[in-house]
Amino acid sequence: KSMNNAHEGMGMTNGHMSHTNPLQLAPSTGENELAIPPLLEPDGKNPAHYSIVAQEGTTEFYQGVQTETYGYNGSFLGPVIRIQSGQTVQFTTTNEMSKETTFHWHGLEIPGEGDGGPHEQIEPGQSKKLTFPIRQQAATLWFHPHPEGQTAEQVYKGLAGLIYVEDENSQRLGLPQQYGVNDIPLIFQDRQFDDQQQLNYQQFKNNDGTIGDTLLINGTLNPKLHVRREPVRLRLVNGSNARNFTFMLSTNEEFQQIATDGGFLNSPVPLNKLTLTPGERAEIIIDFSKLSTSIDLSLINEEGVVLLPFTITNERTTPQKMQDVFNQFSTTSEEQQLPVSKRLELFGMGTMVTINGKQFDRTRIDFVQQQGVTEIWEIYNKPDMMGGMTHPFHLHGTQFKIVSINGQAPPLNEQGWKDTVSIEPDETVKLAVKFQDKGIYMFHCHLLEHEDNGMMGQVKVE
Ligand code: C2O
Ligand code: CU
Repeated sequence: KSMNNAHEGMGMTNGHMSHTNPLQLAPSTGENELAIPPLLEPDGKNPAHYSIVAQEGTTEFYQGVQTETYGYNGSFLGPVIRIQSGQTVQFTTTNEMSKETTFHWHGLEIPGEGDGGPHEQIEPGQSKKLTFPIRQQAATLWFHPHPEGQTAEQVYKGLAGLIYVEDENSQRLGLPQQYGVNDIPLIFQDRQFDDQQQLNYQQFKNNDGTIGDTLLINGTLNPKLHVRREPVRLRLVNGSNARNFTFMLSTNEEFQQIATDGGFLNSPVPLNKLTLTPGERAEIIIDFSKLSTSIDLSLINEEGVVLLPFTITNERTTPQKMQDVFNQFSTTSEEQQLPVSKRLELFGMGTMVTINGKQFDRTRIDFVQQQGVTEIWEIYNKPDMMGGMTHPFHLHGTQFKIVSINGQAPPLNEQGWKDTVSIEPDETVKLAVKFQDKGIYMFHCHLLEHEDNGMMGQVKVE
């Protein structure tokens, strides 16, 4: 791996250049065992009650150096909240930071007033309690702050955690499900440390997406993972502000994608390459039972940079047999034929990003939709003179179906529930969207600097 000058290729002002800041091995630290976020135990049953506290602290990424960070129930990132579909849950969210924040549940189907968008600010020292039923299917979701204009910095400094929804189906499929052993959460984030090893967001902020040269997985620098000779399930989360990750295995072997943002695919999709834009998740299975312990295998990105090396131990297990059918997802012919009822055009760059020519205004409702009614949203990414950028489009409060991409059916591994979809310049994506609940929900680009710069609007469900 090259150890170039860390700032080579950093475009501090020009947006398009910023996307060439390659990842590299963090200097002056060896390999570290991958951190596994703690599972958050409910502190009350019936309804299952969870306490989530946003706080400031310090984290030792580099030996002997304290980096100032934010976290949930800890100093960096947060716990995994594992909830069961059909259950009613109660969250008490508390802001112990010195600035306001919100708690947004990315991917959760939740009434608008609990969704944690920019309207639901929690002042320092304040708490808020939410109670809601979980009705959606098993999925890997996440949570992070969403204060107006401040989301990028708060996520960058460490505010993000995971929600696992489990259901009867997820438990009967024969999937690896030993948390942290063969069912592994992986939150990918790139960061730029300054010369004091601090996460100085304002110094490196880029209006088209702050890209860092240093990878953290679950907050671990230069992580490595020990696995047994068995199928291992990786829950991949792109939790970075702006970097896209294209995952591959260093041997170019196939792996199986089994889930999208909001649920299982109908059956595993074999891939040797998988791209996730910021906000997107995927679950994959790598079968280590077929591999020898001496093999040098890593998860790498498209540029060949090692993201996560695996150490395969000699231990074997007798895994359950996996079912063949995981889900019953389909796009109905009715959904294929519905006329477009909402059109959105994404345009611009830097501080000039817009949706339908407008920037976010919390007093303006951009669209209205009826509860329980499916509508087709058509989203076009209009190129500019420089070509334009890929925008990961995210909608709150629901999971949608991708009906088409430029008139074609989406690839097999996107034929599943989604809440974030990558839209390339000049691409038109049609979504079938239905909300279970009422309220005001955001839609926006999940490149966090674009979101903060106003590439966001509101739909009111009534
Ligand atoms: Cu993950 Cu509106 O955000
Ligand atoms: Cu964008």
